[in-house]
Amino acid sequence: MDINELLQKIKKADSWPAAFTKGAPLWNDDYISLHMLNAHLDDSHDKASYNSILRMQVVEEILSQCHLKENSTILDLGCGPGLYAQEFAKQGIDYTGIDISNQSLGYALMHKGKYQDNIHYIHDDYSTYEFQKQYDCISMIWCDFGALSPTVRDSMLKNINKTLKKDGIFCFDVFMAQSPFHEQHNSWKVERDGFWQKGLAAVLERNKYYETVGTALHMSVVASETGVKTYYIWDKRYSEKELSKVLIDASFEVLYVKEGGLSQKQPEVLGVYCKSKHK
Ligand SMILES: C[S@@+](CC[C@H](N)C(=O)[O-])C[C@H]1O[C@@H](n2cnc3c(N)ncnc32)[C@H](O)[C@@H]1O
Repeated sequence: MDINELLQKIKKADSWPAAFTKGAPLWNDDYISLHMLNAHLDDSHDKASYNSILRMQVVEEILSQCHLKENSTILDLGCGPGLYAQEFAKQGIDYTGIDISNQSLGYALMHKGKYQDNIHYIHDDYSTYEFQKQYDCISMIWCDFGALSPTVRDSMLKNINKTLKKDGIFCFDVFMAQSPFHEQHNSWKVERDGFWQKGLAAVLERNKYYETVGTALHMSVVASETGVKTYYIWDKRYSEKELSKVLIDASFEVLYVKEGGLSQKQPEVLGVYCKSKHK
């Protein structure tokens, strides 16, 4: 690509999009999702999955808040590499995970361990997939709820409502509106075989907080010999009041919204439990 064409493309890509604009596909890109998988499996930080200690606490809280027992069923939306599967399965709970990432799901399938009869996976998009059965509990762990645009969120809530059994509970976590936006930065680097791109690439990263919609954007513009790609990660933060309204409007009864997240150990994160009003 000629330098002028490249600079024009970078200039075009490096502007703030409207809130929740879709960027280049991220989760199901084979190269990027391999790096994501490594981040999920790294127990020294909580940037993609919670560390093993927090995970145990999340499982304990979900078991008790959702009254799960032997033969109960759980559907885990955005299950990643299946780090929760064995913990639920070893309690005799039938665990189903759904994820869009080839790499994470490939890892999950290969690591079902000795409780494999109780572990099932679906490789698909959780926001559109038509589930064939109903579950006692549906979970969405690691603040994925905040990445959804209001339109996708509301249609997913409808689907969750249909997919819960009578008295079934949907639980998830989400960053609090009051949590400070820590990572405001503007940086660039040139790297080889980095997180985003195989080979040589220039990576421009910028973050911004969209005050009116309470949403942070992490934007990465990646320029390489294959062209220029822009990745957007949206991160909507919720107050308890806004969240309750969203859930009530989607016909859920809110059982519990509490600071501390699903583990009850995380500041700046809300843990949420709700059930369908119609059943
Ligand atoms: C932040 S990670 C959390 C993974 C897992 N819940 C955990 O805590 O270890 C979000 C996961 O959601 C998946 N994901 C994102 N959008 C998705 C979609 N539309 N359908 C299915 N999975 C999706 C990603 O592939 C990723 O594995």
